[in-house]
Amino acid sequence: MKLLESAVGSFERLLPQRKSAPASWFAALMVAAALLLLPFTLRLDGKPHADWLQFLGRFHPLVVHVPIGLIVLVPLLEFAGDARPSLREAAGFVLGLAFVGCLAALTLGYLLSYAGGDSGTDVTRHMWGGIGLTISVLACMLVRPAWTSGSVQRLYPAMLTCTLLLLAWTAHQGGSLTHGRNYLTDYMPALLKRALTIGVVQAKAPASNSFYARHIDPIFLRKCVECHGESKTKGDLRLDSYALLMEGGKDGPVIVSGHSAASLLLKRVTLPPKHKRFMPAEGKPPLTAEEIAWIKAWIEQGASPTAIRLAGIHIGGEDDEPLQPVGDYSKLIPGILALENGQGAKLLPVSNKLSDGLILNTVDVAASFGDAQLARFEKYAPYIVEAELGRTAVTDACFNTLATFTHLRALHLEGTRVTGAGLRTLAGLSQLRYLNLSNTKVTQAQLAPLRSMKKLRHLYLYNTPAQPASIADAGQPEGSNAR
Ligand code: HEC
Repeated sequence: MKLLESAVGSFERLLPQRKSAPASWFAALMVAAALLLLPFTLRLDGKPHADWLQFLGRFHPLVVHVPIGLIVLVPLLEFAGDARPSLREAAGFVLGLAFVGCLAALTLGYLLSYAGGDSGTDVTRHMWGGIGLTISVLACMLVRPAWTSGSVQRLYPAMLTCTLLLLAWTAHQGGSLTHGRNYLTDYMPALLKRALTIGVVQAKAPASNSFYARHIDPIFLRKCVECHGESKTKGDLRLDSYALLMEGGKDGPVIVSGHSAASLLLKRVTLPPKHKRFMPAEGKPPLTAEEIAWIKAWIEQGASPTAIRLAGIHIGGEDDEPLQPVGDYSKLIPGILALENGQGAKLLPVSNKLSDGLILNTVDVAASFGDAQLARFEKYAPYIVEAELGRTAVTDACFNTLATFTHLRALHLEGTRVTGAGLRTLAGLSQLRYLNLSNTKVTQAQLAPLRSMKKLRHLYLYNTPAQPASIADAGQPEGSNAR
């Protein structure tokens, strides 16, 4: 305490005293200039520096609360000083202490980001906030004697208010850096969020259909961008876009197209997790074996931003290409409704977007729904994307009608009397992804025409004479016996 008092005391002597006001103003100006020049002389270059600097820097979050408490105390003491003059006297001392605290916190904070290899917009803002705040406290110290002696009235309270606002802003930036930008708003009541239009921007949709946009970029977004993004950039490396990824970090490129072993990024994520250089750092959730396999294959096959498929990588449960929109059938709706009334089967819209198409649903009338009933839906064929014909009375003759369902993506024929003799007629359905033939008499030989169907990914053959393995061998996407 003695030490602190003498430190503050020597500062008070340096500063705004009656004796040599010009000298203290000059000293303050020098301090302010030095603080403002700091980021230009000791640049945050994204490189990690000596461990002992990092060790010191990590005391910043602890120390920073001292000046925060003191700065908040100053206006309270000044205010209470109207009634009790001793408190106002103490305010000057506390203000000096706050300045010393600011300097300490600023120094440690600067070390933290300098030694830890930090940069980025949030880091930069927080840094300038800290510098501005320290200068602003210093300015309050300079002006205060004139206020206590009555020669200025409003300036000092106005400056204190600005200091408090700056404090709040800087502290918030610091909080965002440690806890993430959404820390304060994550649990905010929805009503308030809406009023403040927070969280309106949802997770970004893939920018394109490429493997990079759909699978690689989202990995970085989930596991790396909190430290390698715009707001916080560690190691001078950003992973939030293809161009920035390829630019690399403080040690140059992190991806070498075609050579996964030479790519720093892959090296860092495959180190032993205890290793100092292992990424993601600081014990954040590591990449899964699958994510690493995707990144590796992607680098080896050219690290392209546009390639849609990668050899050897199949990602289950998803389509490689966007769904093809169907045309506008709104004029046909009265006809559809009349047909439904007659047949009992329904045409249900997939979503509230017309272009998403219709589902032919026969559940309620399955037993009585045969080839003739199906034929009546031919008029609406181009708009039907799913046909649920499971357990209906359709036979091989249904394939002639189905061949006209050019936008069909999913076809259920499980438990019907189809034999598979007509399957070749389906070869023209270029959008078909799902075909269920479980519990039918389809044989292996009859599956041959399906090999040319490039999008067919899910083929169900449970309880049929056919052997699903053979079609997978022939280069088809996973034939599955799941049902
Ligand atoms: C908690 C913060 C944090 C997370 C999360 C993180 N990193 Fe890092 N990363 C760092 C720091 C700090 C450095 C700089 C120090 C170093 O090189 O080890 C760095 C450096 C790197 C470098 C070296 C750049 C260069 O040019 O030397 C690569 C590559 C890297 N990270 C990849 C990743 C990948 C990939 C992920 C996600 C799987 C990731 N990082 C997640 C903190 C993080």
